[in-house]
Amino acid sequence: MNHWNLQGHRAIVTGAGRGIGAAIVAELLHHGASVLGTARTAADLEQLRASHPQAADRLFTLQGDITQPGEDARLIDHAVTSLGGIDLLVNNAGATFRAPAMESTTADFQKLIDLNLFAAFNLSRLAHPQLRASSHASIVNMSSITSQGALPNRLLYGTSKAALDHLTRALAAEWGPDGIRVNAVLPWFTKTPMTSTVLDDPVWSKRILHATPLGRVADPEDIARAVAFLAMPAAGYITGQLLAVDGGFLTKGL
Ligand SMILES: NC(=O)c1ccc[n+]([C@@H]2O[C@H](COP(=O)([O-])OP(=O)(O)OC[C@H]3O[C@@H](n4cnc5c(N)ncnc54)[C@H](OP(=O)(O)O)[C@@H]3O)[C@@H](O)[C@H]2O)c1
Repeated sequence: MNHWNLQGHRAIVTGAGRGIGAAIVAELLHHGASVLGTARTAADLEQLRASHPQAADRLFTLQGDITQPGEDARLIDHAVTSLGGIDLLVNNAGATFRAPAMESTTADFQKLIDLNLFAAFNLSRLAHPQLRASSHASIVNMSSITSQGALPNRLLYGTSKAALDHLTRALAAEWGPDGIRVNAVLPWFTKTPMTSTVLDDPVWSKRILHATPLGRVADPEDIARAVAFLAMPAAGYITGQLLAVDGGFLTKGL
């Protein structure tokens, strides 16, 4: 058995329309998986399919908002219909929110939690029967380095991702006996539409690079490769882990 590929794996990727999610789809397809990608913007999903003509028979998309009632169940049903089952769930869709605590409301918090935490929780539970039936099941949650420390104006975002980290560890413990591994990837700044305003600001860009031992900002592919690894049989004894993909940011002292 080749432990370093995803041949025959059936994967759902949320937030697949652009940025890190689109890179994850490309990486999973490259390693032989079949993928169902979802996002709200139909044009992004069309673009995604157009980018992978060689994998047209293995790439499916479904437009939808995973925070809306019933949409999560529709996605899981569609995965069963189009892929024939689920071996991998990548809870990648997420949003950020930048403001100090005194300018943040519970409504802001609720919106963020609905996407960054509840959608991952709900999709994981809905996928559980399919995952339990798989012989190589795993979930990868897209967290953030922000879950590990207090970055300016990221209280709501960091809290939502810290909760996702705990969900990751708790599900890994609870669902290990079902043969389902659950891990999280924690990116530091990555070049996507989400971060373009910060990365285009020369002051912030300099600060970020100074804090990053590898001296560069991540490309979405850097993050996607970590996701693919965690899904592979090669990672078959790894569960409950929070994998920082951060160019060394967390380990840097002065
Ligand atoms: N970029 C970074 O530096 C960075 C760092 C740490 C962690 N992350 C995490 O990595 C993940 C991806 O980030 P990114 O930078 O690639 O973000 P992005 O460029 O904004 O892409 C987010 C994707 O999620 C989709 N999405 C958003 N809300 C959705 C919803 N309600 N239902 C379905 N799809 C939805 C978006 O499509 P639509 O808008 O069309 O729905 C888009 O395809 C997020 O969880 C983020 O928190 C990113």
